[in-house]
Amino acid sequence: MNFMDKARLAERAARAAGAMLEQHGAFEVRLKAENDFVTEMDIKSENLIREMLLIACPEDEFFGEEGGGATKAIGRWIVDPIDGTANFMRGQRLYAISIAYEHDGELVAGCVYCPGTDELFLAAKGEGATLNGRPIRVSDIADLRRSLVHIGLGHRNPEILAQTEPIFFDLVHAVSDLRRSGTAAYDLCCVACGRAEAFIEQGLNIYDYAAGYVILKEAGGRLDAWREGLDPIESGSILAGNGRVNDAIARILNP
Ligand code: IPD
Ligand code: CA
Ligand code: CA
Repeated sequence: MNFMDKARLAERAARAAGAMLEQHGAFEVRLKAENDFVTEMDIKSENLIREMLLIACPEDEFFGEEGGGATKAIGRWIVDPIDGTANFMRGQRLYAISIAYEHDGELVAGCVYCPGTDELFLAAKGEGATLNGRPIRVSDIADLRRSLVHIGLGHRNPEILAQTEPIFFDLVHAVSDLRRSGTAAYDLCCVACGRAEAFIEQGLNIYDYAAGYVILKEAGGRLDAWREGLDPIESGSILAGNGRVNDAIARILNP
């Protein structure tokens, strides 16, 4: 299977999970940690996706937010079964299923599906990125004052929230406006398709941004670490941009 085949398989799994999530009845909600919820549907979505991926690719390993799994492998799926659980459990329409494929340590395919809006973002290394089958590109806006910037607040971690708070105020004066969607995977796709110029958030996990990263990169965008000099994929604190506003935003993040 080539990387595009892996991406298409991810699409089939994401659509199947999305159809199930959209038809849900009542479901149980449990507190994983302070202000961090998991629903029965997160688990069902991950189980369905794992099964579909591993039946098609028994040689691959799997790592999911809810069940964990392999931290290293030649071929590994990295899955967030519902990104935006807080939105999903309150009936808000913006949530995503995020599936990435990693080959030999490199993220090479990504699928982000938003069942509530039926938008499917897909990319494979060297093949470009699409939204519902149509090619997408980052915006060409280079002026920060005209830029729409998505921001994650790190609301579950008091230390990260305290670091992000002053940045929020510095940024809001420098850009056109800020947005907080509640799903990091979707935030990255917004930059990839030119709906926003950048997205920043600290303290993310690899499953939040692995797929969005491939889509952003294939759409011509750039992922940097929030702190200059760190590896963006390893750090979990990211500045995703259209490549034209990254440096200006980095100066605000690293005064
Ligand atoms: C969360 C969402 C949210 C972000 C959090 C993530 P979850 O994922 O992506 O936008 O701010 O940092 O943990 O918990 O809904 O999968
Ligand atoms: Ca997530
Ligand atoms: Ca999740």
